[in-house]
Parts: sequence; structure tokens; C-alpha cells
Amino acid sequence: MTYRVGYIVGSLSQRSINRKLAKALTKIAPHDLELVEIPIGDLPLYNHDFDADYPEVAKQLKQDIETSDAILVDTPEYNRSIPGALKNAIDWASRPWGTNSFNGKPAAVIGASGGSISTAVAQQQLKSILLFSNAAVLGQPEAYIQFAEGLITDDGEVINETTAEFLALFLNAFATHIKRNLGS
Ligand code: FNR
Repeated sequence: MTYRVGYIVGSLSQRSINRKLAKALTKIAPHDLELVEIPIGDLPLYNHDFDADYPEVAKQLKQDIETSDAILVDTPEYNRSIPGALKNAIDWASRPWGTNSFNGKPAAVIGASGGSISTAVAQQQLKSILLFSNAAVLGQPEAYIQFAEGLITDDGEVINETTAEFLALFLNAFATHIKRNLGS
């Protein structure tokens, strides 16, 4: 059986290192995980006046999440938190009240930055938000990728062997977590 993993990149930048990381993950993923991007860049800013009539782009976001077996979020850290665009997407997906798209979804978090503690603080906050949204969040292994020029090519090839091995280990642990949570 193949599990569909919807992945969200928290950065909207064309040059995003987290997008490179996501590309690498799609290549490294075990054969039973299919990684498919869930785009968030065209969402307007959420406010609850929209709840009576969700725009098409937000309905699509909710559908993309709901039809995924699991969700992977790959995020940068902005000012020791998650980017506004990512929080906006989560807010859209969690509403209207009673239709939270994350409910019960297996989920995992990863992220890259150049800093020595990488995206650790943002990821802690993101895990807390996803847990509140009732996602089944993978606790271990944590995946804080310290990005250096040339670590991953534009085509998503991981140059450093230790990093490639770690990413494979992370995805295998996520696959086990997904199967355990889906009872398969
Ligand atoms: C950053 N950056 C950053 N890095 C970090 O490790 N901790 C942080 O709190 C921040 N804060 C921050 C705020 C803002 C507004 C920007 C634009 C950047 C640096 C960040 O890690 C770097 O720009 C990455 O390249 C961002 O990831 P993407 O967008 O390339 O995937």
C-alpha cells in the first residue's frame, strides 16, 4: 500500500532552502510514501467572516489535507516562530469550526535554517499548534537541519552522506508512525 503524504513548505520564497529540502525528501522517501505538495501561497489572510463562504483556494487546501493520509510540514524559522503564511494556512485548514481538516491526521515536522539551533524553536511552536489541531504529531526523531551552501542541490540531491542517511531515517520513522496511527 502507498500512503499519500501531503507536504506544506512554510516558505513562499522562490529560493527557499526548505523547498530544496522538501525536494530532497520526495527523492529519499521510502517506496510506500508518496509526497505531494499542498500549496499555501495563494491563500488570502484568514478571518472568520469567510466561514460562511470559504473561497475556492481554501476549500482546495482543506480537501488536499483531508485526502492525504498524513501531513509533513517543512518550515523555516522567522523571528523564533513559524512564518505568518504557514500559520495562516493552518488557521484556514482548522476552520470553519467543527470541520478541522487536521483532526486525527498523522503529522511530522522538519525544517532548515543556517543557524546552529536551526528551526528548533519554530518547530516546538508548530508541534504545539498541530497538537492543538488534534493531529497525531511524530515526537522522535526531531529534524533540525542546519543548512550550508551546497548541502542540497537545486535538484534535491543531498551532497552530505550523513544528512542523507538522517533524512532517510526520519522518513522511515514517519512511515512507521503513519502506519501505527492508521492501524495498518
Ligand atoms: C529569518 N531567519 C531566521 N533563522 C533562524 O534560524 N531563526 C530565526 O528566528 C530567523 N528569523 C528570520 C526572520 C525572517 C523574517 C527571515 C526572512 C529570515 C533566517 C532564515 O533561516 C533564512 O532566511 C532561511 O533561508 C529561510 O528559509 P527559506 O525561506 O529559505 O526556506
